[in-house]
Amino acid sequence: MCGIVAALAARNVQGILLEGLKRLEYRGYDSAGMAVLDAGGHLHRQRALGKVAALEEKLERAPLNGRIGIAHTRWATHGKPSEANAHPHLAAGRLAIVHNGIIENFEPLKRELEVEGVMFESETDTEVVAHLVARAFERRHDLLAAVQQTLARIDGAYALAVMHADAPREIVGARKGSPLVVGVGIDEHFLASDPLALLQVTDRFVYLREGDVVRLSDGGGIEVFDAEQRPVTRPLQVFEHGDGAASRGDYRHFMLKEIHEQPAVIAATLEGRLSGSHVLESSFGVDAGALFADVRQIHIVACGTSYHAGMVARYWLEKLAGIPTQVEVASEYRYRDVVVPQDTLFVTLSQSGETADTLAALRYAATLGYLGSLAICNVPGSSLTRESDLSLMTQAGPEIGVASTKAFTTQLVSLLLLTLALRRERGDAREAALVQALRGLPAVLERALEMDSPIAELSEAFAEKHHALFLGRGTQFPIALEGALKLKEISYIHAEAYPAGELKHGPLALVDADMPVVAVAPNDELLEKLKSNLQEVRARGGELFVFADEGVALAATDNLRVLHVPRVDECLAPIVYTVPLQLLSYHVAVLKGTDVDQPRNLAKSVTVE
Ligand code: F6R
Repeated sequence: MCGIVAALAARNVQGILLEGLKRLEYRGYDSAGMAVLDAGGHLHRQRALGKVAALEEKLERAPLNGRIGIAHTRWATHGKPSEANAHPHLAAGRLAIVHNGIIENFEPLKRELEVEGVMFESETDTEVVAHLVARAFERRHDLLAAVQQTLARIDGAYALAVMHADAPREIVGARKGSPLVVGVGIDEHFLASDPLALLQVTDRFVYLREGDVVRLSDGGGIEVFDAEQRPVTRPLQVFEHGDGAASRGDYRHFMLKEIHEQPAVIAATLEGRLSGSHVLESSFGVDAGALFADVRQIHIVACGTSYHAGMVARYWLEKLAGIPTQVEVASEYRYRDVVVPQDTLFVTLSQSGETADTLAALRYAATLGYLGSLAICNVPGSSLTRESDLSLMTQAGPEIGVASTKAFTTQLVSLLLLTLALRRERGDAREAALVQALRGLPAVLERALEMDSPIAELSEAFAEKHHALFLGRGTQFPIALEGALKLKEISYIHAEAYPAGELKHGPLALVDADMPVVAVAPNDELLEKLKSNLQEVRARGGELFVFADEGVALAATDNLRVLHVPRVDECLAPIVYTVPLQLLSYHVAVLKGTDVDQPRNLAKSVTVE
């Protein structure tokens, strides 16, 4: 989704803003722009349709120069992607604004302004906010008050940054429903949608909360006001992942780097959460023990890849902990009449912690009488973690590739920790065996990553295809779903996943020599059944690619290729089998020449509905 960067510094800010925009590219966007206030008090703006590189070219030809500026990458919601709709938007040539999110009541406000004679230059909802703030500023010449007054009139979700030529040493920012952080420098301050945008200038951040408005002023002033306009202090946090998190290093794509980081980030996710042979409940928060003792049911809600992690957890929670579990996508959950049995724990899963549907589901759940809520999330300080009773942070570090990889496997590890923490038979041999297997998991994943070359070779069989089918049973069915999602989002090949037992109830009709069929087949209790399903595919001339445990006896033939995956405890197999499927989609996308890290039409953090 859109990205914001703003800077109030003691030097020219064009370079800082441009670098910030480049670092926000991963969020997904279709145009970019920047406005800078020069030393003479004049606003200058450059905008470009397409990539930040197009904006950079324009800036090379006509540089902007000033110590205060705002910049933006836009992901179109109101109005098509175009230069005219790109931010910053101006009002009367004196005020500039950048905005993420959606202003729901922009139409009546726009009509009201048009009646008063305002001419609009774009189709965006943002321009309405620009004119409202400019008009409020005319009355009192106080930018902070003008923004606060305007926010009281708008409904919807936003993060925004505003500057005015007549308040030349101030930037005002606000957030409600979309993230915004303050980057704290020495005598210079910044705003951004994500700390990654500012790591080149600072590693110290203040995370704004829902409803907060912030005024940055000359000489380093940062004043934060809450939704009731009371001055508040928000904690200063140091970003711990280092600037390397925002660079590809020696890898060709962020996605490949993030796939290869999985052994390390899984080790980090386990760190401090295991003691001897058991899971520490306190990892979920000081009150977790008491709350977990009362849990009789679980509802898990998430979107996309995170939803697939929830689907795996359902098998674990019911098999290992005996707790009835429901899993649902947030966009459905939030709009239906949910019945909540007594003593049900509400669990959300999210990489970003800002996904609009998941957040809305949590807020709806808060009205339904759950026992409590737990967020499993990758971004510290995100809305989801702040609004949940308990939270467990996955330690994946910043995930830049739009297609989620390491966030998914660290979610799975966290969900297995949750399952073990919820078991009634704490401290038994099964828990000890799984804890031991978890400790060994990073090493097993290192071996799974060695499959990279054979998978790169295999990917050639997919590059010219238009469709693919993924099959799995049990915990591997959600992994098949995740494999299909990865393939479609980055290679644009239409991919579907089915529980293998459903094949003959319909999808078998699609199978012919042009339909590659991928099966995930660890050596578990469902293997023999899966083998029969594979025979059904072979009998129809389908080309089969089977990922199977090292020990599984499956002879390769002309239309059946077998790739061996390192063997682990069957509970951990979904985590290990995810890796070759990630590599497969990555290599197919590379062969097809698609934009692996920023696939078309997609955004990393889906902060609008
Ligand atoms: C797919 C992908 C998305 C996200 C989904 C939820 O690769 O990344 O499907 O999983 O948008 O995002 P989070 O986990 O941030 O709530």
